[in-house]
Amino acid sequence: MASNISTVNTETVLRTENLNIYYGNFLAVRDIWLDIPKNRVTAFIGPSGCGKSTLLRCYNRLNDLIESFRAEGKVYYYDKNLYAPDIDPVEVRRRIGMVFQKPNPFPKSIYDNIVFGAKINGYKGNMDELVEKSLRQAALWDEVKDKLRQSGLSLSGGQQQRLCIARAIAVQPEIILMDEPCSALDPISTLRIEELIHELKEQYTIVIVTHNMQQAARVSDMTAFFNVQRSEQGGRSGYLVEYDATESIFNNPKQEDTRDYVSGRFG
Ligand SMILES: Nc1ncnc2c1ncn2[C@@H]1O[C@H](COP(=O)(O)OP(=O)(O)OP(=O)(O)O)[C@@H](O)[C@H]1O
Ligand SMILES: [Mg+2]
Repeated sequence: MASNISTVNTETVLRTENLNIYYGNFLAVRDIWLDIPKNRVTAFIGPSGCGKSTLLRCYNRLNDLIESFRAEGKVYYYDKNLYAPDIDPVEVRRRIGMVFQKPNPFPKSIYDNIVFGAKINGYKGNMDELVEKSLRQAALWDEVKDKLRQSGLSLSGGQQQRLCIARAIAVQPEIILMDEPCSALDPISTLRIEELIHELKEQYTIVIVTHNMQQAARVSDMTAFFNVQRSEQGGRSGYLVEYDATESIFNNPKQEDTRDYVSGRFG
């Protein structure tokens, strides 16, 4: 397991209380109560359609861009309700960054990919230093330092994903959300990203969605298992089955559904 540090007594950075998420009338995710600890890696696992991405997008208000989206209940970042009227979603997304399944560098140079967000945020520091620091943190510097003016799209898939992580880091977020960040990558690139995640948690809080059980077991401190169930309204709603230290979820789960899922007996 990634860490044997007790998760007890660590500060909570994100908290959902009685969170229900709808797309139109469809209740996609129901009644989520979940605390994400600071400077830890939390993995979301569960079958397709159980709402992992939906919940993840709630944490940085990325769902706002979906017209039919509606949330009931609370999402707290420390003591701030992220859905309160005075909250600026752009600022939320600066503090809570996102890395997607498919690497999506901008069709710009490697250098400009990194400085893009910093410029928008009015960053006053030295841009060259920011580029180097971010690329170093993303374990990409040595591979690209001689071609910073080349397009980000000229990199390999694994390098592009590290570029996206560097881009996320460059705006100095506190939390990085990752939605299946390795599913388009080969095993070597995947291991590099996993090592990177391990290093990044010294400074950042990470929430990662993954379908790879070994990956969840390797990189995360906490694991949340979600499942889908027919709801009273007739649709299939996602819900949280069990949330615990990763070690307990994989070795000693309390729920039978969790045991079946992590052992691959799910059907
Ligand atoms: N933009 C949307 N509009 C309407 N329904 C949506 C939208 N996005 C997701 N859903 C529905 O919400 C439910 C949860 O979807 P979500 O993508 O969050 O699941 P997931 O756990 O991330 O699945 P996967 O493992 O396949 O990525 C699904 O029933 C899905 O069809
Ligand atoms: Mg998803």
